[in-house]
Amino acid sequence: MAKIIAGFASSHVPAIGAAIDNGQTEDPYWKRVFSGFEKSKKWIAEVKPDVVIAVYNDHASAFSVELIPTFALGTAAEFPPADEGWGPRPVPVVKGHPGLASHIATSAILDGFDLTIVNKMEVDHGLTVPLNLAFGSPAEWPCPIIPLAVNVVQYPPPTGKRCFDLGRAIRKAVASYPEDLRVVVFGTGGMSHQISGPRAGLINSKFDKSFLDRLTNDPKGLAAMPHIEYMREAGAEGIELVMWHVMRGALDDKVKEVYRFYTVPASNTAVGHIILENGVKSAKKAALRKKSAPKKAAPKKKSKAKARKAA
Ligand code: DHB
Ligand code: FE
Repeated sequence: MAKIIAGFASSHVPAIGAAIDNGQTEDPYWKRVFSGFEKSKKWIAEVKPDVVIAVYNDHASAFSVELIPTFALGTAAEFPPADEGWGPRPVPVVKGHPGLASHIATSAILDGFDLTIVNKMEVDHGLTVPLNLAFGSPAEWPCPIIPLAVNVVQYPPPTGKRCFDLGRAIRKAVASYPEDLRVVVFGTGGMSHQISGPRAGLINSKFDKSFLDRLTNDPKGLAAMPHIEYMREAGAEGIELVMWHVMRGALDDKVKEVYRFYTVPASNTAVGHIILENGVKSAKKAALRKKSAPKKAAPKKKSKAKARKAA
């Protein structure tokens, strides 16, 4: 069976992509940003996921403002990089996993999540920048990647709770896929930023750091945060953070935070990044298992012995 083993969340600042494409990764400004992902690259190279599900947002590249699906799942075999105004980024074509993607679509839709099925789509910096941060700049991305685009560009985006619950539905779908696949879910976008208007340039590190803390330790409480609080505390584009809840909902309640990185600024935003692993046994469950195991075994033996005596 397939299973989700970890979550990887990071900002997707377009200027990070431009720094890579223009050979500026060694400039001190950008080195500070990229150095924060060295450990992450090692981590993912060791974990070697079979498939990545990348929750990201399209910035009016694939969909335009004429058609804005709330949740759009990429079921195609390939997703070429989009032209965002300077020609497509020189990054590999994203290869999908139509089998698992169609399975997720079926399972999630029958569970009540009316996903838009996308059989042809180009992907923008929202997806390609986090791929660079995780995998560097290889000739081919190392595994199939299923894009899941979330609307955060036009009001109303989905709530954090809805995103979290979609993560839960994805987790259920993955768990019922018959192939043995180890899946990592990416959450992308954020952190606090506002691109335009009187508050342009807003960054709120206190909010960002608390968001990272609660993502690990209080995921359900965090997912209940209303839109207005993102607007007030994290700026208009801070709402991109709702996508991180899809990733978190796809993970266990208790997770191990294996890595975190935060730096300010990169372009107009803070760069936040966190890696969470599944597989932590909760203390309560472990204690229950310990308690119940010998108790269950003991009466069985007795009753067998009694049964023999009686015979
Ligand atoms: C910036 C950040 C984003 O997430 C984005 O989509 C566009 C611009 C920025 O920091 O400039
Ligand atoms: Fe963005």
